[in-house]
Amino acid sequence: MAESMTPSPTAPHLAKRDLVYLTPERLDEFFAAVVHGFHDDYVAAKWEPHRKVFEPERSFGFQVDGRWISTCGAYSRRLTVPGGTVPVAAVTLVTVQPSYRRRGLLTEMMKHQLYDIYERNAEPVALLWASESAIYGRYGYGHACPQVRLSGKTKTTAFRPDVDLGTGSVGEVERDEAIPIIKPLHQNVLSRRVGALNRNDDWWVVKWHDPEQWRHGSSAYRFALHYDRRGHPDGYLAFRVKNDWSESGAEVSVEELDADTAVARAALWRFVLDLDLVRRFVRHNAPLDDSVRYLLADRRAVKAEDQDGTYARLVDVPRALEARRYLADLDVTIRIEDPLLTHNTGILRLETGREGAAVTRVTRGRRRPDLIMNVRDLSAIYLGGTSLAALVRAGLVAERTKGIAAATAAAFGWSQPPFCPDFF
Ligand SMILES: CC(C)(COP(=O)(O)OP(=O)(O)OC[C@H]1O[C@@H](n2cnc3c(N)ncnc32)[C@H](O)[C@@H]1OP(=O)(O)O)[C@@H](O)C(=O)NCCC(=O)NCCS
Repeated sequence: MAESMTPSPTAPHLAKRDLVYLTPERLDEFFAAVVHGFHDDYVAAKWEPHRKVFEPERSFGFQVDGRWISTCGAYSRRLTVPGGTVPVAAVTLVTVQPSYRRRGLLTEMMKHQLYDIYERNAEPVALLWASESAIYGRYGYGHACPQVRLSGKTKTTAFRPDVDLGTGSVGEVERDEAIPIIKPLHQNVLSRRVGALNRNDDWWVVKWHDPEQWRHGSSAYRFALHYDRRGHPDGYLAFRVKNDWSESGAEVSVEELDADTAVARAALWRFVLDLDLVRRFVRHNAPLDDSVRYLLADRRAVKAEDQDGTYARLVDVPRALEARRYLADLDVTIRIEDPLLTHNTGILRLETGREGAAVTRVTRGRRRPDLIMNVRDLSAIYLGGTSLAALVRAGLVAERTKGIAAATAAAFGWSQPPFCPDFF
């Protein structure tokens, strides 16, 4: 009797686990494990577009008895940094099944992945969205791209009298008409949008993938274009409306709003705020400098709540620092502590100027460091979204040469705060 029974799966505390890379034919099992890790049911059709962007050779996890008990992956993308772009490992699909949590699996996967990224020598930076903000700092990820959730009542959103709405118009267009027009508009703004990621055609499909189960009662995505005086599209908007026939009224949720010109941005926001029957607006992931905050006559009509945005991790510090531009000339030595990727630990000299930046390693004793910081904090200031001066004031970065923190903070700043409109 006992011999004919299906063997019981191994108890988690006795399990022997193996780190295994994904092969394309096991994709569904892997996706199912990821979705389960986020406490959802796997429905293959919902994830169809993700198959195209998925990189099995960068996806791995632990298995027990041939079953995935943890998952981790990365996409190969390009990140806009101040004055340029850099290849980035966009880290994703990180889960550990509940029965195996808090046994160090995440730590093992993070170490494995970061070494792998470094050894590939392709990407000096890794980037991720964190489900919970306390998780990734221990692996050197810094809060690089702070964002805000903006919301308010549409009735109280008159613009300042000096706002120029231009002489063009906003037209709602069908999804299939909109996307080919939005693509080049997005491409235009991408180089200025530090923190954003390039989107190839497959990523465009993922971006606007819109299964009904993910809408939570809202409409499908709707699209609108701003046309300038001559009828040329120069801005775009993607939004949803959630109907509510009670007194509280419907809510419009802005998914993406961007434009080549200030006039187009203002006109697109006006279109959103003037939708009939709609009483409330929300933009969940908005840049810190979203125009609507400045356009309104009553600043208090828009509520801004902090959101994490993306976390960056410098994997190859010299390469990453040389890939961006700086706002001021600087000659600074920084002692970097990186307990995980120890090749980064040591004193680096960073010289910035109009031509770009040069990083050299300083032999111990030659020159003492002006600043001492953990790679996590260097990663946080990398895109100009976290202030070095604030980290010094908080006691997280040590300033050894008086005044150097202010000079370095000024050089690392940028004219626009970073913003990542791409969820991955
Ligand atoms: C988050 C998750 C991946 C952690 O995996 P894990 O294997 O339990 O993590 P580890 O055992 O390696 O923990 C490493 C450290 O992180 C801490 N940690 C883990 N999850 C944490 C969390 N959610 N919040 C705060 N700290 C956390 C642990 O306490 C441990 O701390 P220590 O180094 O000081 O001991 C897992 O809980 C999970 O899959 N959660 C649901 C899906 C999810 O949120 N994925 C992340 C997507 S970005």
